[in-house]
Amino acid sequence: MSAMIRGRTIVITGASSGIGEATALRLARAGARLCLVARRADELRRVQNLVHALGAEAWIYPTDLSQAGEVEALADALLAEHARIDVLVNNAGRSIRRRVSESFERMHDYERTMALNYFAAVRLTLRLLPGMLERNDGHIVNVSSLSALMPTPRFSAYVASKCALEGFSRTLAAEMAGRDIAVSVINFPLVKTAMTAPTAVYNYLPQMSTDKAAGWIVKAIETRRYRITNRLGEAWNAATALAPDPTVKWTGRLFKIVGERLQRRADRERANGGA
Ligand SMILES: NC(=O)c1ccc[n+]([C@@H]2O[C@H](COP(=O)([O-])OP(=O)(O)OC[C@H]3O[C@@H](n4cnc5c(N)ncnc54)[C@H](OP(=O)(O)O)[C@@H]3O)[C@@H](O)[C@H]2O)c1
Repeated sequence: MSAMIRGRTIVITGASSGIGEATALRLARAGARLCLVARRADELRRVQNLVHALGAEAWIYPTDLSQAGEVEALADALLAEHARIDVLVNNAGRSIRRRVSESFERMHDYERTMALNYFAAVRLTLRLLPGMLERNDGHIVNVSSLSALMPTPRFSAYVASKCALEGFSRTLAAEMAGRDIAVSVINFPLVKTAMTAPTAVYNYLPQMSTDKAAGWIVKAIETRRYRITNRLGEAWNAATALAPDPTVKWTGRLFKIVGERLQRRADRERANGGA
């Protein structure tokens, strides 16, 4: 299986922290050549040093992926500096947790999540796919979320951008049928990273480790399966498809009840801590 990784050139966006960093380290142990992308050059250099310490090669590409021109320059550099790109992991992402009713003056929330979570991934795919098609060999791995499989209050901007990425992925996977080019979508549950840290209620919910999450990305690359998720994701996805009305209604109520209970607990603990 590690033949899918050893000596292969793998681009990871969002490699300066969290799931992307952990994925870089796992793939380094398996002998991949890594192209690490994110905005913070110092953090990318730190991850690059960790990769080198594991005996693997890594190059860093500080890039703001929300800027179309920077994504094009990144693609130019990747294609000029590497004979081939075998795998693209579109992992960089941003999340916004806000109700639609609190977003009336915040169209920019929707534009910013789409710019990074959707358009950057599509733009990079459009530039790297031609080489994969020429060689009839390649793999696009798109990082999505469990929230794209279930009705998830408060995350309309984030979920919409991940659902757009899923729609693109599904169509691309269908178009690639019969070729040796794989497309994978990974629907992570909560993972303990900088992204989830600001939300106090998440402290009372199970959160996957970044190393385990990285294991899911490695599994996608090794198995080339279309979807990697857990039972909860599969069940909610099926329920939403089979019985959308009750699923949306009751999931919304469940989130409200559990969310309010956890928020009261977080407020109580903060008050006690402050006393
Ligand atoms: N954590 C979760 O619970 C969870 C659950 C489901 C799915 N996910 C998905 O997992 C992926 C990784 O998230 P994470 O949890 O590991 O969060 P994280 O630790 O905050 O990592 C986000 C990564 O994206 C990069 N990034 C952010 N904005 C960027 C930009 N404009 N240009 C280039 N890179 C940018 C960040 O690097 P710089 O700041 O250096 O640019 C960082 O490396 C995301 O797509 C997220 O939606 C996370």
